[in-house]
Parts: sequence; structure tokens; C-alpha cells
Amino acid sequence: MKELQEIVGASHVLVDPDLRAPYETDWTGRFTGRAACVVRPANTGEVAAVVGACAKAGTPIVVQGGNTGLVGGAVPGGGEVLLSLARLRDLGPIDRLESQVTAGAGGTLEKLQEHARAAGLDFGVDLAARSAATVGGLVATNAGGIRVLRYGSMRNQVTGIEAVLADGTVVSRLTGLAKDNTGYDLPQLLCGSEGTLAVVTKVRLRLVPLLTARTVALVAVAGTEAALDLLAAARDRLPALSAAEIFYADGLSLVRAHAGLAAPFPDDHPAYVVLECAARVDPTDDVLEMLSGCDAVADATVASDAAGRARLWAYRETHTEAINAAGVPVKLDVSVPLAEFPSLVARLPATVTDVAPAARTVLFGHVNEGNMHVNVLDAGDRAEAVSDAVLTLVAAHRGSISSEHGVGRAKVPWLALSRSAAEIDAMRRIKAGLDPAGLLNPGVLLPPGSPRG
Ligand code: MLT
Ligand code: ZN
Repeated sequence: MKELQEIVGASHVLVDPDLRAPYETDWTGRFTGRAACVVRPANTGEVAAVVGACAKAGTPIVVQGGNTGLVGGAVPGGGEVLLSLARLRDLGPIDRLESQVTAGAGGTLEKLQEHARAAGLDFGVDLAARSAATVGGLVATNAGGIRVLRYGSMRNQVTGIEAVLADGTVVSRLTGLAKDNTGYDLPQLLCGSEGTLAVVTKVRLRLVPLLTARTVALVAVAGTEAALDLLAAARDRLPALSAAEIFYADGLSLVRAHAGLAAPFPDDHPAYVVLECAARVDPTDDVLEMLSGCDAVADATVASDAAGRARLWAYRETHTEAINAAGVPVKLDVSVPLAEFPSLVARLPATVTDVAPAARTVLFGHVNEGNMHVNVLDAGDRAEAVSDAVLTLVAAHRGSISSEHGVGRAKVPWLALSRSAAEIDAMRRIKAGLDPAGLLNPGVLLPPGSPRG
């Protein structure tokens, strides 16, 4: 403890249980664990010194950014040093020539977006937790969000990384070269590694053009099949399409009751799709033309001004908060091929109530990627059975048990539904190579085994 205090200063080693508490429970309230202490380094050098000291003492570390994760990957399992990267918030100058910027791991997505926009550029990843989610966390989980359709997920934005290995060694690759075939791509290996291979301290990021002409459409449809018909028409006819999101009638009721929102349409409908187009010239006419020619549209409302767009997005983006306000949900984040999407959605509610009769299933997600967020409320002591039933159903639909939130602690028992024994073994060997003592985020991502899972 004394050594850690000497590295970061006594005020940045939190031992008092009240001070530790906000770091020890995740955002959903479902995952919680005790940390030996919370350490808040200010820069890469201090991170390296803290990790080196922990390595010498054989003390495990859990790494945390904005604590907005949904799979328990950034809260302690019990007794680790919790390394909070919240003070690593430096944002470098915008490199206009390369359209890149270097960002500290602890800065929020929102601050990064503001920084890029002030320079006439934008960042390709966006998601509802933007005000708290941090750059390092987005990298560690390879975050997706609402613009994957246009720009890909977090790994597609990353051109370089600085990170601290499990023994305290700093590896830095921040040149951001567009072409660089000089061996293993360590930055890409760290994307989606969930803090198990190294501690990411800085990230070199690609920026995208700032597209200020935006149009959002909220479209009512008869169900999931109709949503896919609408998606196909939108992809075909709207080159400026940047988001396609889905939610259903019960989610809308929950959101409206929670946030006091007006009904978007005179009638209720089974399902709703949010489409967003972003371009340099106003895409509204193209959106209206596509909507009027698409049989799947039961009703639609369109906004191109900032307030109107935010009003329509709120129906989708308030889902997480409204669900959490209704109880501690079992959160499952799955994706299947689009051809399997309607069948999955049709079978999910009964799959849940078969094992947890009192449970309520609320679905919403990113329809373009076949990514459904399965939120189960009132599962009581059947959380494990619900996860098992849903994830087994997903595997039977040729899907992934974690589409964008990661494996964390929550999905470890089901990893083999999505990854073969050979793949898990290869992952273990990578882990053993970079963290032989199993000190980084033990219990996260890999099933128990050697090194410490
Ligand atoms: C979202 O798409 O809004 C996020 O993944 C959060 C969630 O799943 O609750
Ligand atoms: Zn999502």
C-alpha cells in the first residue's frame, strides 16, 4: 500500500470502504466485489509503476474506466487492486493531415466527440453511455453502438495503442501509420481483450468527416420481419444511412412511463425502427421518398432539426435507463445472422418464461447487425437458468453470446457456445504468454484454468 501511495500520492489510493464503493459495483447493480484498494494513477508512467509493483507482490489487478460495462468485467472479483484510469484524460491535438487524434484511456467518449467536432471532424463510434464511457473501456470491450453500420466498431477506429503489460513494461505504438506490416498487430490484439492482456493507457484514433445534415426517422412496423424489409429498403436506397435500431411495444411503454414521453404515433404498433441518415447535404427528401415507397412502413415521423432528432432518439436511447429503473435486469447481448433474427425474436419470450415464469423480457437493439439486447426483469433466483436458456437458443440460431458488451464475468460459463475448444485454447496461450501469473482481470473472459481464469 505504501509503495502505491508513493507512486500516485496518498490521496489517490482509496482504502476507505465508502470511497471504494462507487468503483466496486457495476452500473446495473448486478455485479459487485470488494477491492483491496482503488488506485488512481495520472499517467502511463504511474500505471506502469503500479502494475510493476503489483506484479512483484503477485497482487491481481482489475482495470476500470467509466464503470459503464454491462457484464461485470470492470468490477473486482474480490481482493484485487482496482486500477481506475479516470485521470488519464489527455486529449492530444487533432492531426488534420491524418484525421487522427491521440486520447488518454480515461477520457469520455463525449469529450472526444466534442474535441473532434470543434475541429470540424467527428468520431465514428457513438453510444448512449457517451457521457461516462471511456476511450480505454471502449477499446477493451471493442464497443459497438449505433454507428457500426457506417463506421464499424471500436477496433475499426484504432490505429495505435500505448499499453502497460502485466510486468509493468510499456509498449507504445502510436504512429498511426495507415500501412505498417511489421509483425503482430498488438493494438488490434488488445481491442476486445477486456483488460486481460494489458492495461491500455493511450489510444491513437481515426476520425471521420463531420456530417451536419442529419435526418432521423422513427418508423412503426408490424414486427421483426417488417423491420428487416424496411432495413433492406433503407440500405438499398439511402447511401447516407448511419444507424438502424429496433425496439418493441413493451419497451416503448416502459420508456414512456419512465421518461414521461408522449406517444410517438396515434396508434400502438408491435415494433419500431429508428433510422438515421448523415450527409453533407440534407438527406430528408431521400428518407421521405424511401419511406413512402416501402410497404413495411405502418407509420413514420421524421425530424432533421437537433431537438426533433433528440426527441426521436430518446425513445430508443432511454431503454437501458428505463429497464434499470424497473429492477436489476439480466442483460444478455446477442447477435444472430439476419435470416435467423425473426425466429430468435419470436422464440425469446417463451424461452425465458419456460425457465422463469414471472419474468418479463424487453428487447431492443441494433437491427443492422442482428444484435439484440435481451433484458430480463423479475427473473428472481432464475438468472442463471434464463442466461442458459437464452444463450443456448442463440447458439442454435448460429449466433454470438456477446455481440458488443463483451464476456466479462457474466458470460464466462457460456463462452464455449460461441468459441471452439481450439479457439479458447489459443486464447489461453496468448494470455499465458502476456500475463503468465494471471494477474490482469482474473475471472474475466476466460473460463477458469491456467493461468488463473
Ligand atoms: C445500447 O445499445 O443501448 C447499449 O448496448 C446498452 C444496453 O444494452 O443496455
Ligand atoms: Zn448496444
